[in-house]
Amino acid sequence: MDYIKNYEEMAPKYQKLGMPIPRRDMIKTAEQIEGIREAGIINNKILDLVAANIRVGMSTLEIDEIVHNATIELGGVPATLGFECYPKSCCTSINEQVCHGIPSPKDILKNGDIVNVDCTTIYKGYYADASRMFQIGLITEEAAKLIRVTKEALELALKTLKPYSRLGDIGYAIEHHVKQNGFSVVHEIGGHGVGIDFHEDPYVAHFGKRDTGLVLFPGMVFTIEPMINVGTRKVFLDAANNWTIYTMDGSLSAQVEHTVVITEDGFEILAY
Ligand code: MF3
Ligand code: CO
Ligand code: CO
Repeated sequence: MDYIKNYEEMAPKYQKLGMPIPRRDMIKTAEQIEGIREAGIINNKILDLVAANIRVGMSTLEIDEIVHNATIELGGVPATLGFECYPKSCCTSINEQVCHGIPSPKDILKNGDIVNVDCTTIYKGYYADASRMFQIGLITEEAAKLIRVTKEALELALKTLKPYSRLGDIGYAIEHHVKQNGFSVVHEIGGHGVGIDFHEDPYVAHFGKRDTGLVLFPGMVFTIEPMINVGTRKVFLDAANNWTIYTMDGSLSAQVEHTVVITEDGFEILAY
């Protein structure tokens, strides 16, 4: 399917129905999607390498070195390095850190920790963005449930994806499942369009109402990256580094992120 042609044909129909439609520049061409897919393959390999090497006693700086070296070796560029002065090649967020934890030689992974590694690769100018949760040694039942529910929430969000589904369906699926399990969804940070740039439109909220929001067209590429807390959804920004977000009550937080594309019959995961 020519996604641009399809957009030009279908957008007026949804617009006439009074529904919010994406701008034309939110639709990627087949060539651009292929580029993002290649960046995604590299990003997946990097996270696979992290998975194979992450262990108790390792510092988060060592994780960053694995990511950095693998990215360069595979012909990519780490998107976070130097992005708005961010100093490292990935984000490593431990326990009550919600996101944007900065790798450091002082942060040593210990038994029972849960850690998110978030990695974005630029390859031939195209961006792919994904993150995974890792458990260090033996974790508590509550931590295991948090990771399971977070992954399930993303899976349920993916199930809503098809041509002309709505952005609000994604947020609804996530928050409904999370609340049913007694956890909370962070509202302040969302997913985003991605591919030609790091953060593009649309903004993808992880809460919402069904049948509301932007109509999703084939050729749209974006991330879904819910951050889920055991306790309050409230968070605060680390004033010392201006990056790292923490849960307000010190409870555990988990996150998983995929880059996806809406296709003519559903969706495809480009980075996980
Ligand atoms: N990868 C993060 C995201 O999912 C963004 C990190 S920006 C950084 O959007 F500068 F903190 F690395
Ligand atoms: Co992202
Ligand atoms: Co990310």
